[in-house]
Amino acid sequence: MAGLSRILTIADMREAAQRRLPRVIFDFVDGAAEDELGKARNTDALDAVQVTPNYLVDIRERSQKTDLFGQTWDRPVGIAPTGMSNLLWPDADLCLARAAMAANVPYILSTAATTSIEDIGRATEGRFWFQLYAQSDRETNLDLVRRAREADAQALVLTVDAPWPGKRERDLRNGFSVPFRMTPKTLLDGALHPRWALRFLAGPAPRLATIAAYAPEGATAGTLAAFMVARISQTLTWDDLAWLRDAWDKPFILKGLQSAADAARAKALGVNGIIVSNHGGRQLDAAPAPVSVLPAIRAAAGPEMALILDSGIRRGSHIGRALALGADFTLVGRATLYGVAAAGRPGAARSLDILRDELDRFQAQTGCPDIGDIGKLEAVLPAAA
Ligand SMILES: Cc1cc2nc3c(=O)[nH]c(=O)nc-3n(C[C@H](O)[C@H](O)[C@H](O)COP(=O)(O)O)c2cc1C
Repeated sequence: MAGLSRILTIADMREAAQRRLPRVIFDFVDGAAEDELGKARNTDALDAVQVTPNYLVDIRERSQKTDLFGQTWDRPVGIAPTGMSNLLWPDADLCLARAAMAANVPYILSTAATTSIEDIGRATEGRFWFQLYAQSDRETNLDLVRRAREADAQALVLTVDAPWPGKRERDLRNGFSVPFRMTPKTLLDGALHPRWALRFLAGPAPRLATIAAYAPEGATAGTLAAFMVARISQTLTWDDLAWLRDAWDKPFILKGLQSAADAARAKALGVNGIIVSNHGGRQLDAAPAPVSVLPAIRAAAGPEMALILDSGIRRGSHIGRALALGADFTLVGRATLYGVAAAGRPGAARSLDILRDELDRFQAQTGCPDIGDIGKLEAVLPAAA
């Protein structure tokens, strides 16, 4: 897309995505649960964190290189797992994975992705993490873990904050469904967004490419989606973590924990990392902003536990603020989805670069040439009024 360099912020990228996408698709990405207060709180809490700068520091040489799970990444922000991304742009999952590879940051493939574990494994030569939505039967879970292992995934991420679907009212009002169905309303919406419609119609219909292997033969995109929703486990408990952990010998990460007690339990079970997240406000509208529970989770999980924060990050300074409050790493969901929706892989790369440049300024202005210095800054999140 011409003019990507004129996009200066993630807010600009969101607007570019909104212009290109039909409303029903934009709302699927941008929306959240119920009154969307949790989504707003995520970013508001990050905005509220105050960081005291240190001056008279030589800041000429700055680096964002961060070690996590035995690897050195070039920036402390990766791409969170997202389902159904190919609605935004054909091969959106591959665009995101390749943008992450080029930036040397982690990319997490969702169970609900529209590209299979095997295709992402081949395209990235194993430079991806796999996110598991636990299915109701143990055999399928073990098979998904086996496929992730055979595709050389670097880490397994078990999402725990979606035991039941969030009530996403924009989707309900728009008649959004998985698979995406053309109704008279969406046809008109598509006709009003020809840049999206031409690409969408030229590509294959997005389908749950990984889950397809378990569906009855001849399943359509529609029956496949219903199949997956019906099989997401509602009975997964802490007891199941032991056998899942045993089936995987690389880093094992829980995504969506928000309580200190749960973090302590995860530590006792040998979990290697926690993604402190509320799913970008898409599940429990009442959930706390992850940044507000981060210090308690750090205290409970101890200094060795890798703590990764997501939900609400729209600025490089949000990454800086999360690191200052004790996170080791961060992820973004919507920031790179807006990028891919606006302009495919270069758009996703642009979103990552905007965040990198803003974080670089944050480092320069706080006297933290090395990214590890940020954790030593004085930072406070004032109690909400
Ligand atoms: C469109 C969309 C789809 C998502 N799908 C998944 C998913 O399949 N699995 C998962 O663990 N999280 C999923 N998430 C949550 C993200 O992984 C991440 O936690 C969230 O987007 C972070 O908040 P942010 O969008 O404010 O950065 C999804 C989020 C969005 C916006």
